[in-house]
Amino acid sequence: MASLTIIPLLFLCTTLLILVFLPCYRADPDPLQDFCIADPKSGITVNGFACKAARAAQYSDFFSSAISKGGSTDNPNGSNATVMDATVFPGLNTLGVSMNRVDFEGCINPPHVHPRVSEVGYAVEGILYVDILSTENKLYSKILRAGESFVMPRGLLHFQYNMGPGKATQFVSFNSQKPGIVFAPQSLFGSKPEIPTEILAKAFRVDADIIEHIESKQWFK
Ligand code: GLV
Ligand code: MN
Repeated sequence: MASLTIIPLLFLCTTLLILVFLPCYRADPDPLQDFCIADPKSGITVNGFACKAARAAQYSDFFSSAISKGGSTDNPNGSNATVMDATVFPGLNTLGVSMNRVDFEGCINPPHVHPRVSEVGYAVEGILYVDILSTENKLYSKILRAGESFVMPRGLLHFQYNMGPGKATQFVSFNSQKPGIVFAPQSLFGSKPEIPTEILAKAFRVDADIIEHIESKQWFK
């Protein structure tokens, strides 16, 4: 009888032990040293970038003005994401963090996902309509004003729309040195080589000429 009550107890304890000692899954692997300033000239291919020698690190490796100014918003979206990942800020290499600055003069940062990481953002100027779509196709939206923040869970489709009348700016950060970005319209209609029109027509349940019309836009961004 005693053994019958002990079995579920043992099972519970074992499960708890496994859960406690399971490694935490993060987007990027943990660093193995204080820092690993990326050496973009190294021909060595690793997951991330090879480090330059630690003794060669300089104060400038730990600072960046990459997002002190926004880039040009002169494009069909009227927005621009200035990226500060490990490719432009070598000091971020292996640290599992990066940032973007997104400027809106016109309307939209189109629907996109970061396949590897989550994003947390902070609005500094303007009024933004911020949206997240869950895997159940539920839309979570908020009109975000300066000083307010949002989070985009890893891999979920999201977008921001400038409600105007003026400019809007937000700063976002990622738990990866290089989060990756997949813009839905650009991927579907601007891939190289192209997805065959008839496949897109079937997927969107429209005539091929509607797809051709969309494909004829400049999907440079
Ligand atoms: C905004 O969502 C960004 O990814 O820069
Ligand atoms: Mn994003």
